[in-house]
Amino acid sequence: MGTHNDAVDLSLMDDVFREYEGQRGALIPILQKAQEKYGWLPPEVLNLIAKKLGIPVSKVFGVATFYAQFYLERRGRHILRLCDGTACHVRGTPILLTALEEHYQLEPGETTEDGELTVELVYCLGSCALAPVAVLDGEVLGRLRQNMLLRTLKKRIDLAKPA
Ligand code: FES
Repeated sequence: MGTHNDAVDLSLMDDVFREYEGQRGALIPILQKAQEKYGWLPPEVLNLIAKKLGIPVSKVFGVATFYAQFYLERRGRHILRLCDGTACHVRGTPILLTALEEHYQLEPGETTEDGELTVELVYCLGSCALAPVAVLDGEVLGRLRQNMLLRTLKKRIDLAKPA
């Protein structure tokens, strides 16, 4: 119907508002559900939440900014969480980070310009025996080496692209 690709479909929020109807204090669970639906918290959605709950937009932004679990910027289609806890750090996370910087110009917390890949640092994924560890789109990659990481990323990103 001619809607722009990037347009945020606010109707995704209908179910969420139904679920929390009349609960003014439900801001955090509503933000969590919204993020599940969109992958991040677009400003249009934050405005809508403020309106529905009858609270100032500034308050909604304040809460969303305060908690690290909320993303106020669009994230990549693929998310790489790289562990930099002690075990992983000593076993090579810094080298992996250098590879990401060299090949994708990515620092932790950033997304590639084409929107394909976001890299985030975490501190212990509970799999120290497999250090260094990363999780790519929910899949655990253990005993990572530069080459293996770059190969896996290339495969994942290229495969997902429309031919
Ligand atoms: S320090 Fe990386 S998994 Fe524990």
